[in-house]
Amino acid sequence: MLTDVLFTKDLNQPIGIFDSGVGGLTVASAIKKKLPGESFIYFGDTRHSPYGEKSAETIRRYSDAISRFLLSHNCKALVIACNTASALAYTQLKKDYPHVPIINVIDPVVEYVARFEKGKIGIIATRATTSSGEYKKRLLLKNPNLSIEAKATPLLVGLVEEGFIDTDLSKGAIKAYLNNKRFSQLDALILGCTHFPLLQPEIEAFYGGETTVIDSPELVAEYLDGALSKAKLLSTKKQGDYRFYVSEKTPAFSRIAKNFFGENITLKEKVL
Ligand code: DGL
Repeated sequence: MLTDVLFTKDLNQPIGIFDSGVGGLTVASAIKKKLPGESFIYFGDTRHSPYGEKSAETIRRYSDAISRFLLSHNCKALVIACNTASALAYTQLKKDYPHVPIINVIDPVVEYVARFEKGKIGIIATRATTSSGEYKKRLLLKNPNLSIEAKATPLLVGLVEEGFIDTDLSKGAIKAYLNNKRFSQLDALILGCTHFPLLQPEIEAFYGGETTVIDSPELVAEYLDGALSKAKLLSTKKQGDYRFYVSEKTPAFSRIAKNFFGENITLKEKVL
């Protein structure tokens, strides 16, 4: 909790984006596309990743340290680009930094999906996210007519990190997790983890195009646009600049970062 962190309302200050690792770069990439004038500082907590199997208390502690770091660099808003941290740390961060616009990756998806009048919605995510029940709780609060099935699919995270995208392994794991009654005849499936947009074509193919597969990056970028505009914090610049930090730099992270961001980036190490 922090009174010693300076907060600024300078429109051209960067947005702080963070994730447990490099998966949140899918969100950073969508923000860059949607809001090219915005600058951002990305922080990936690779030293402590994955968050998906950690306790709520630990996830909150890490998220707080990262938020302090980003705010000490004068970020004008924060985006929690990690589903697990969004599920477990968002409420606490909102309380601790009431003057900072904070966007999580769950609410934009919930708002979008809650517009379905009724239907069967599936959610796949990390174990910490599904056990928190946050997606289900927030969806039912907005639309009690939905029926919801949530499942932890941690193996998919590892497969994406190891580059097993569009392989027999990834297809086999998708089938093993989703080929059952609970996950059949869904109206929509929410990809509730930063890594899963990279498997989206395979998941769509698994459902033969019969189920809408919803990933969050574009929805989050759109939501952020609305939030910044409401707070009168949209940048006046034409082109933003970007900085990328990780808490532990390894050649593997540098390699996979490109898959998530879609272009080469330079990661700097900052131990928190
Ligand atoms: N970034 C996490 C999420 O979106 C996935 C990886 C992890 O477990 O840390 O939930």
